Amino acid sequence: MQNITTTLKKIFYLWKRSQVPEKQPTKIPLIDKLIIFLICILISIISSYKYLLISPLYISDIFSWFLTFTEILISSGILILVSRRENPTISSRQIILIISFLLAVQSSKLLFASNISPLSIIIPPALIISQGMGSITALTWVTIASFNWPNPAVAINNNLFFILLVCASVVSLLGGRIRSRAQLLQLSIFVPIGAFLSQWILIGKNKIALFDKQEFVFSNGDIFSDSLLLGIVMLFTILFIPIFESIFGLLTKARLLELADKEKPLIRRLSLEAPGTFEHTLLICGLAEEATRMIGGDIDLIKTGALYHDVGKLHAPNWFIENQDGSKNPHDEIDDPIKSAEVLQAHVDEGLKYARKNRLPKPIANFIPEHQGTLKMGYFFHKAKEKNIKINENDFRYNGPVPQSKETAILMLADGCEAALRAMNINASDNEALETITKIIYSRQKDGQLDDSNLSKGEIFLIKRAFLNVWKRIRHRRIQYPTVKNNTFS
Ligand SMILES: [Fe+2]
Ligand SMILES: [Fe+2]
Repeated sequence: MQNITTTLKKIFYLWKRSQVPEKQPTKIPLIDKLIIFLICILISIISSYKYLLISPLYISDIFSWFLTFTEILISSGILILVSRRENPTISSRQIILIISFLLAVQSSKLLFASNISPLSIIIPPALIISQGMGSITALTWVTIASFNWPNPAVAINNNLFFILLVCASVVSLLGGRIRSRAQLLQLSIFVPIGAFLSQWILIGKNKIALFDKQEFVFSNGDIFSDSLLLGIVMLFTILFIPIFESIFGLLTKARLLELADKEKPLIRRLSLEAPGTFEHTLLICGLAEEATRMIGGDIDLIKTGALYHDVGKLHAPNWFIENQDGSKNPHDEIDDPIKSAEVLQAHVDEGLKYARKNRLPKPIANFIPEHQGTLKMGYFFHKAKEKNIKINENDFRYNGPVPQSKETAILMLADGCEAALRAMNINASDNEALETITKIIYSRQKDGQLDDSNLSKGEIFLIKRAFLNVWKRIRHRRIQYPTVKNNTFS
């Protein structure tokens, strides 16, 4: 019996060790909390106030009002919690956007009652939410927006309600995965066609009204107008998504892929003015992508973040070893470790300035300071010590913060391993490469750089294996292929 208890305790201990503390969502300022709360109250009032207009007013009506009011308030709270759970870095602006959509939907139901197509008021916001905040948030929003109809309930056909739920769920699920504007366009064409066909089958052929001016806008129940209106509203939504992206800081997959385009002016400048940094960036992209795939992280995010992580080096490319190309090293010329450390820190500060100028979304800009964290600039620190200069260790550390997400932490590790792997002998064994990777990762772990990243021990193990796989690929590329000159066949 004691053995079983000890084994169970051991399993529990191992399980606990393998877990990492849940990341705390970002703090929302008090004023924003107040605004969010007021909007939630407003949604609850407009969804329930009609109960109080009944005359004579009975206690049961007041009870019904109270019940509906509380239900909507709690639903809005759940929606906010789910969105924060799915996106720990969600901003208050984005939360305001989600609940404002709910407010708009509840108001439209009340204003237009049974005259408005539920498909056109619920599906387009679901598309924006799924694109910017993820599928789970969008599904929760759809559930709340579909089930809470202000009293007197709009006479919504059961079949139509079913079609609405299916279409909105499809849009929520696919919207979070869509990776290009073209796919978005396809979705906005196929969903209305799907809605049209299912309405035709489930509701009936006799309700098809071809283009009828009056029925077109307020068209609940008229199948053709319903679906056509949905198609048009969805196309407009796609047109407006970039505006939502810039106003509310939404980071959609399509925006990420657009930013990852190497023809973007900032990246073109990096390749022309700091070719060494550009090459380093490309190799890091490979390492980081492989590691993120291994742990199931956001590959598109890290690929784009990696591309921009060192853009700050554009302010003085020749101060960084990868761009020196055998020429004089300016650090040797100034021979001042403190000044040199300032130049290194400047690549982070200038990078953030470039990010602001180029309107990079915050999750991408975060890669700039977090890839360096609060790492020590060891080389210049030791140089200062050798020169017996009175120094403070913090002057030789980057300003941080340390990586706040798994993706920025992976980038920090890839940044650390890149130079070492590139410099490794072509004949080095896998074990030697793994040893080098482990040493670099361990030094960052010991320095507390990974403390806020949420990476578990198992994930760090997978990251090491991923880096090793990329190293094997690099080694393979560097093996000279036989040529005709060598009297071999190719
Ligand atoms: Fe850097
Ligand atoms: Fe770097």
